[in-house]
Amino acid sequence: MTLNAGFRADLEAQVAKLKADRVYKTLNHLDSPQAARATMEGRGEVLILSSNNYLGLCTEPSVIRAGKEALDRYGAGTGSVRFICGTFTIHRELESALARLVGADASMSYVSAWNANEGLTATVAEEGDFVVSDALNHASIIDSMRLAKSITKCTTAVYKHGDLDDLVEKLRGAKGAKRRLIWTDGVFSMEGAIAKLPQLLQIARDHDAVLIVDDSHATGVLGATGRGTAEHYGVIGDVDVITSTLGKALGGAAGGFTAGPAALCDMLTQRSRPQLFSNALPPTVAASALAAVRFIGNHPERVQALRANAAWFRSALKEAGLKPMEGETPIVPIIIGETADAIRMSELLLDAGIFVTGFGFAVVPQGAARLRCQVSATHTRDDLDFAVRTIRAVAARVGVTR
Ligand SMILES: Cc1ncc(COP(=O)(O)O)c(C=O)c1O
Repeated sequence: MTLNAGFRADLEAQVAKLKADRVYKTLNHLDSPQAARATMEGRGEVLILSSNNYLGLCTEPSVIRAGKEALDRYGAGTGSVRFICGTFTIHRELESALARLVGADASMSYVSAWNANEGLTATVAEEGDFVVSDALNHASIIDSMRLAKSITKCTTAVYKHGDLDDLVEKLRGAKGAKRRLIWTDGVFSMEGAIAKLPQLLQIARDHDAVLIVDDSHATGVLGATGRGTAEHYGVIGDVDVITSTLGKALGGAAGGFTAGPAALCDMLTQRSRPQLFSNALPPTVAASALAAVRFIGNHPERVQALRANAAWFRSALKEAGLKPMEGETPIVPIIIGETADAIRMSELLLDAGIFVTGFGFAVVPQGAARLRCQVSATHTRDDLDFAVRTIRAVAARVGVTR
């Protein structure tokens, strides 16, 4: 037997085209823990300014220790999906802690927030329901709605990003639907903007709709104690359903969850396809995530340090003549303009020892290519000062200083 040569040739041609179009992504290998500074293979130490490790919990000793202890106690894998024999006591402990953290009755863990989102819409929507989503929502929400549409025959729509008038118009148009569901990110990952949660809640109640918030970039980040977008606005307990990741501020390992009424989590156990057909979160990861939730509960000052670092970085960039997008989150995009300039800047920054990703069209709108900087509580002021000086120098070299 020989391999299918045509298949391989097609893929090689596709890769070559991505390279020719300068949209080919290169993987850079780290050879040390994910931290404010890490060792990159072939480059040595680099300052990481592109990580979701917002609170530095990837290297927090209590988080690492909990994972090691769980490895000894529960072993390496779950060996099964949850409902067959893959559920461990650590899952229950983690799910209670996550529900308390976000102010819900119950929660259900998944191996990723992608899976949590993907499994949700098709579980709760039925034929005749209407599901509407912010235009800048995460890809996992978009795919979740596409799946739900084809599985359940619900109808779907997209409202303009942050445009609540457009949302209301779409909901009015769906008056005849059996049920209405609204999906929004809590924090939009390409901009760092925070969803207008109080208004969204009001609209949801006015139109008898269910509000679902993906708080992946807000859990551990927003609110005085890191409980997310609802804490930021003082509306904890008012959001119908919250999904989030364990792979960002909560230790950066992996995993996700859906939180809401106990009956919702029951239904997810019964019907959500990634629950039914994919192995459970490894116990080591569950234990590390639980330790991360406990760490946040005991260390609100870490959340406050993150906020202070983000504010300092934004204002230092502005003083240096750069154009960070306004905001309150640790996602600090610097608008560069042309995709080629953003990519070139990210390459030059890596040469100078700073790892920060450039995003261009079609991930972001044409002419709004950007460097997306992400600040961590564990960056020192020296780290951030070095970053600002280096970004300014590289911007001048590429000719994008304004
Ligand atoms: C808003 C949002 N939702 C979901 C995800 C997926 O998270 P996970 O890595 O846990 O699948 C991400 C990750 O980029 C995200 O930004």
